[in-house]
Amino acid sequence: MASVSRSFTRALRTAAPSFRAASTRSSARFAVPQQAFRHQSRRGYSSERNLPDGNPDVMLYGAGALLTLAAGYGLYTMNKEWFGEAAKKLQGPFVPKFEDYQQVYNSIAARLEERDDYDDGSFGPVLLRLAWHCSGTYDKETGTGGSNGATMRFTPEGSHGANAGLQSARDFLDPIKEQYPWITYSDLWILGGVCAIQEMQGPKIPYRPGRSDRDVSFCTPDGRLPDASKDQKHVRAIFGRMGFDDKEMVALSGAHALGRCHEDRSGYSGPWTFSPTTLTNDYYKLLLEEKWAWKKWTGPKQFEDVKTKTLMMLPTDMALVQDKGFRPYVEKYANDNEAFFKDFSDGVVRLFELGVPFTVAEDARWTFKSSFD
Ligand code: HEM
Repeated sequence: MASVSRSFTRALRTAAPSFRAASTRSSARFAVPQQAFRHQSRRGYSSERNLPDGNPDVMLYGAGALLTLAAGYGLYTMNKEWFGEAAKKLQGPFVPKFEDYQQVYNSIAARLEERDDYDDGSFGPVLLRLAWHCSGTYDKETGTGGSNGATMRFTPEGSHGANAGLQSARDFLDPIKEQYPWITYSDLWILGGVCAIQEMQGPKIPYRPGRSDRDVSFCTPDGRLPDASKDQKHVRAIFGRMGFDDKEMVALSGAHALGRCHEDRSGYSGPWTFSPTTLTNDYYKLLLEEKWAWKKWTGPKQFEDVKTKTLMMLPTDMALVQDKGFRPYVEKYANDNEAFFKDFSDGVVRLFELGVPFTVAEDARWTFKSSFD
């Protein structure tokens, strides 16, 4: 468009005064540009004043240019979208930056605040569980699974028993995906986990984008996530397969300070702590300080606190205090919330990055501002 109007400008500058006068009279639409041209010609193009009125060559040239402009304008008004697209192509592909991801973070945080009608008042715990279940399928031997791919979108993985109930977290994030279509599901689901932890007053979780969405053939087989009815041997086997050590296993389990078990999902029932939407080291404190007994019910075997009978522990939670290798870390985190936050954050960063072929270096991770910073 710019070059069309430039040639029109040049044409009019050389056009005869009578032509200019006539066209000014004939169309109010072109009056403004013509005034501007006249103003310019007074300054720099004195030679045109010597042209005889009605020079036919010049008139032809001017009329041609006018027609070109009119055609260009018509094309533009009919194809505004095409011009917009062409302009975008000239600018190159959109490469989201830190501020763009912070925007997505802010939108998730705002939606968490808004949708306080769920469970204990927050989707935070189930968002964290979604991010963990995407990542926890990783197998270090084969390099398969992990948070790259968002393969839980597909039926085989989405309907694995361990993933029951996570549709609610995926549904929660769908409007965010619509708002920011450039982000991949796999980056979004992990960002949801990061946001959930920070917004529930947990530590900062540095983040790198770079996950791509993959097709159904990348779904992992059932059975890669832990089975809560098992013991420490199983916990070590599952987390060992992902590449974690004892300290990291205990630190990551501190996530059970958040959320609850649902009978219609896992079959288990109840929360682990009295503040299931705030991340603290209470999970470790309660494990050590409360008396726990088998819950008397017809559901799967779980523990309940003797005093209030409102809290629960899974057999795998109880394995952390029963096992000699795990217990010192439970004691450490029960006594030191800062140490827990540090090791939890380190563990979660590693968990959320399993199986992702990043192009961004580790020291270039981003830390998002929380809504209350
Ligand atoms: C031995 C390891 C683990 C086992 C056996 C286990 C098992 C479970 C089970 C059975 C539930 C209840 C699900 C429901 O009924 O809705 C649950 C919930 C949850 N898990 Fe784990 N989990 C483990 C490790 C982790 C880790 C490593 C994290 C995160 C880092 C995590 C985060 C959560 C959260 C936040 C919830 C609450 C979800 C909600 O409120 O909807 N879990 N887990």
